[in-house]
Amino acid sequence: MSSLRKIDVVTPLLGEKRGQMPVKYCASAFAPSNIALCKYWGKRNEELNLPITPSLSISLGKLGTTTSVCLSPEPRDIVTLNNREMPATTKFAKALATFLDLFRPSPTVFFRVDTQNTVPTAAGMASSASGFAALVLALDDLFGWALSTKNLSILARLGSGSACRSVLRGFVEWNAGADEDGLDSYAEQVKGTWPDLRLGVLRLSELEKEISSRQAMKCTRLTSSLYEAWPIKVSHDIALIKESIETRDFELLGRTAESNALAMHATGLAAWPPVLFWLPESVATMRKIWALRKEGLPLYFTMDAGPNIKMLFTADQLDAITTEFPAVEIVEPFSS
Ligand code: PMV
Repeated sequence: MSSLRKIDVVTPLLGEKRGQMPVKYCASAFAPSNIALCKYWGKRNEELNLPITPSLSISLGKLGTTTSVCLSPEPRDIVTLNNREMPATTKFAKALATFLDLFRPSPTVFFRVDTQNTVPTAAGMASSASGFAALVLALDDLFGWALSTKNLSILARLGSGSACRSVLRGFVEWNAGADEDGLDSYAEQVKGTWPDLRLGVLRLSELEKEISSRQAMKCTRLTSSLYEAWPIKVSHDIALIKESIETRDFELLGRTAESNALAMHATGLAAWPPVLFWLPESVATMRKIWALRKEGLPLYFTMDAGPNIKMLFTADQLDAITTEFPAVEIVEPFSS
């Protein structure tokens, strides 16, 4: 395994821009959450968040993170989350400070980072993805780097793997890449829009999850006998999802995304110790979706490393969906 550290990637990527002072006092940016239709599940490099397979996601419109980064008025980093100051000892503040270390012009430069999430933090709703993407976009503006989308995606990946997909909108593919330094592992937009595509987010639990996606995918990759089938499943599913986008075949998109998510969760069940994110409510919701589908409702779902369910359907089914799931939060991925 490569011994490259994150800083070994950041230094050449920023070149002479690294070490320069910010060009403004404050900058702010928004990045959307994203939901993978074909999941990222397993790293070939833990330090650089390099994946074993490609993945393909859709962004969540207005749901995501707005982050503002300023030079700190005090000789310490100040971190707030949804208007609450986070003590330096919290996991959240520590993760940010470690990431900011990669970009400090000197150890005596500190930042104030204000993060506003419209998704629940660490409840399987991909807030770390939009969080690191928004932070990188804000830092790019603060320092006046004017980096390409490719390089912004690489920097966001160093914060959290799936964050590399949140610097873009719509359908986004993350190329796995093969290089040791990961400079070929970044996200790109997949051509095509789908204006009447809808996501329905069911927040079944806002509790912090028991196991992080990082731990879960590591345990699965190392111990699950089903993991060796995963890269084969991904290469088929990515091709099918791209085909469904090109031909606007909703049934193909829904079926592939749902089967991909279930296969990901199945690899976890065969791991040791077993990895299971589902709550009784998750299973009940899946069964309800399957029953509705049997009755003719074109409705599919996907799930990430948490108990919440994200449904996929088209705008013409909106009334039926809101009747069946009154608490659903509707997302229009392609609304401007
Ligand atoms: O980027 P991370 O480390 O939060 O991992 C995300 C993993 C999944 O959400 C389960 C899948 C994905 O592709 O987003």
